[in-house]
Amino acid sequence: MRKLLTAVFLGAAAINIDAQNLILSPDNIPEIISAMTAEEKVEMVVGCGAAWGNPEAKFLGTAGWTRAIPRLGIPSIYFADGPQGVNMTRTREYDTEDYSCTFFMSGSTLATSWDTEAAHSVGQAIGYELKERGLDVILGPGMNLHRNILCGRNQEYYSEDPLLSGKMAAAWIRGAQSNGVAASLKHFAANNQETNRKENDSRVGMRALREIYLKGFEIAVKEGNPWTVMGSYNYLNGVHACENEWLLTDILRKEWGWEGVVISDWDGVVKQADAAKAGCDLIEPGTDEDKNALLAALSDGTLPMEVLDRNVKDILELVVKCPSFSSYKYSNDIGREDHRRLLRRIAAESMVLLKNDGGALPLKPGAVALYGVSSYDLIPANMGVNGVNNGEYHVSLVQGLREKGFEVCGPLLREYTDYIATEKQKIESAYPSIYKQFFRYPRPAEIIPGSDRQISGETVSAAMTLDLGIRQSSSTSRLTLKEQAESNDAAILTLSRGTGEAFDRTAAEFELTESESMLIDSVSVAYHAARKPVIVLLNVPSPIQTVSWRDKVDAIVLVGQPGERAGESIADALTGEVAPSGRLADTWPVSYGDSSSDRNFPSETGQDLTSLVTPRSAREGRDLLRNIDYTDYEEGIYVGYRYFTTMQKEVAYPFGYGLSYTTFNYEKASAEESAGGFVVKVTVLNTGTVAGREVVQLYVSAPSGGLDKPLRELKGFAKTGMLAPGESETVEITLSREDLASWNEKKNRWETAKGDYVFSFGASADRMLTGSVIRIR
Ligand code: BGC
Repeated sequence: MRKLLTAVFLGAAAINIDAQNLILSPDNIPEIISAMTAEEKVEMVVGCGAAWGNPEAKFLGTAGWTRAIPRLGIPSIYFADGPQGVNMTRTREYDTEDYSCTFFMSGSTLATSWDTEAAHSVGQAIGYELKERGLDVILGPGMNLHRNILCGRNQEYYSEDPLLSGKMAAAWIRGAQSNGVAASLKHFAANNQETNRKENDSRVGMRALREIYLKGFEIAVKEGNPWTVMGSYNYLNGVHACENEWLLTDILRKEWGWEGVVISDWDGVVKQADAAKAGCDLIEPGTDEDKNALLAALSDGTLPMEVLDRNVKDILELVVKCPSFSSYKYSNDIGREDHRRLLRRIAAESMVLLKNDGGALPLKPGAVALYGVSSYDLIPANMGVNGVNNGEYHVSLVQGLREKGFEVCGPLLREYTDYIATEKQKIESAYPSIYKQFFRYPRPAEIIPGSDRQISGETVSAAMTLDLGIRQSSSTSRLTLKEQAESNDAAILTLSRGTGEAFDRTAAEFELTESESMLIDSVSVAYHAARKPVIVLLNVPSPIQTVSWRDKVDAIVLVGQPGERAGESIADALTGEVAPSGRLADTWPVSYGDSSSDRNFPSETGQDLTSLVTPRSAREGRDLLRNIDYTDYEEGIYVGYRYFTTMQKEVAYPFGYGLSYTTFNYEKASAEESAGGFVVKVTVLNTGTVAGREVVQLYVSAPSGGLDKPLRELKGFAKTGMLAPGESETVEITLSREDLASWNEKKNRWETAKGDYVFSFGASADRMLTGSVIRIR
């Protein structure tokens, strides 16, 4: 590590100030700044290093903290990931306390609830755990847009739609910050691929930026008011996001009126002084090199002191709001049981019923046979750095079903369990360092089948992956498949995919492996011969291929990544104890290649491109590589359903789709102009025989006004309460004229075109149930 430069010349600012009795308070921030030396200011804007791997850190395994300056009463404040719970090391030496926190569902699973109250409750619970563990800033929510279904971090994010993403994020932030701790909205902005993530330039047109990639952030910032925003790793139209003045100052602060701290993503700053000038207040996790660069820039005049003062001011304004400032006496009582109950319910409600033929679901307790490795080894949530170190704890599907009185086929349980243990051991002994360093918790299902991977400098062979589709019933089974089908009431088969930060998924992973397809075939044939249903659970963070096999099975449930109560949540949804009322937050395409962004995404070549990634410094003299060094967002605003519905292109399942155990009627739909906007109403009636909740989706088709317009766009949504059979609820959605505006690139402004707007409530993006026209003059 390089020694910190001493900057004697810069200490002058502090010389005449008597700092003896000056102690930070919310009212004296300018005086405190005047009393700080230049070095202290630089210490303030550069973090103290990552807490993980640092045995001296106060909170082991967390993300970082800021410098304390005791002489001025400035305490450190502490950060933890985020967004699926508070990530910190579970055990500490000489201490018997379990420091794990609740591992909530992935963002993409929370999004399928379409329930902002649920997002609020989850944010609130996570903020509470953070505060009671003694920290101040939760590094979440993550809300980049699902531009492509193979982005490796989609599970942390919400949806392909900016309104759904923005509203969920805003509610989560309000929930988290209701505890008096800070949320950190991340990763700002257009950070939509993991391949070459620190070097890749997202080349996005202004209209797509405004309407799609910034829109969700704009909603979350204006409605959630996060105390911090995290800049992203990528470049945006040639300028690094953390050094992008247009993004961090002109848009975020001046245009949106936000006042808070911009934190860099971890090791996300390349040019420290440029970042500081652009409005990136805090460089994380922070190194001596960062500090030296800032001191050198102060000394040669390229970083004005006023800029540093402004950034320090932002940080101190955050510090005085945080629990550490008031020496909050945290309890380490995180409300675990309450939060587990909350998680269990919301995860079950978020599940999406994609198919349910012949009333296969809800299931009555009976004998069930579970197929597929993931039925015994679920991926409960995102397993990357942004997961939660809870020692791999989760409630298994077997346990969840047994608690409900199901009898789980014993021979299969034994055989799968043995297979998983043996394979895991093989993988762990082949790649011990990867397990320790990267995955934190060994979970072979995370190493994706299909191709070799570079992980932490080692090539991990595809052969070293668990065969997720293996059927443990051929040679070794004590029961043939036919006998299993005869002696059980139903088959439950789980397909899973895992991802984590730093990798994109490959196009091959979208497909089923040969063994997965064979498993579906053989199980379906055997169970249907015995007149028993086959239920498929999709334990996936984003879409996979369903069209080739969905007709062979009776029911399909997207369980997503439901968090640590996975088995119980799934059992609740399968039995109907909790009505699954999720709707897709993304379009599920028929094939990979169908979506508008597929042409401009790393997976396009079908290869693992990791080996082609080279640092910027090594690029000299060679042509820039498409989708690696830069990515063209050629599809513009036509992302997800905006593309599929406008082009009338077939999909496997549309955005907004999901069945229910009951049925609903939409009555008395109306759309009226009100002062400055519109009030749109509908009465939803439960016409079925069991209770349920309905997601009301409001789509608007706008007149062109001289611009290209998508067929329709989601402009509002709401979720009803639990409606008993025969019960109804009137849902009211209000919007403003600005909510209907499009970005005119030529005129560089938002415009709400004159003409006829069709307001419709839809069952999904491609099926409208009602419609009324309003003419805007
Ligand atoms: C991730 C962030 C995370 C940070 C701290 C980075 O690698 O991109 O999402 O908050 O690390 O762990």
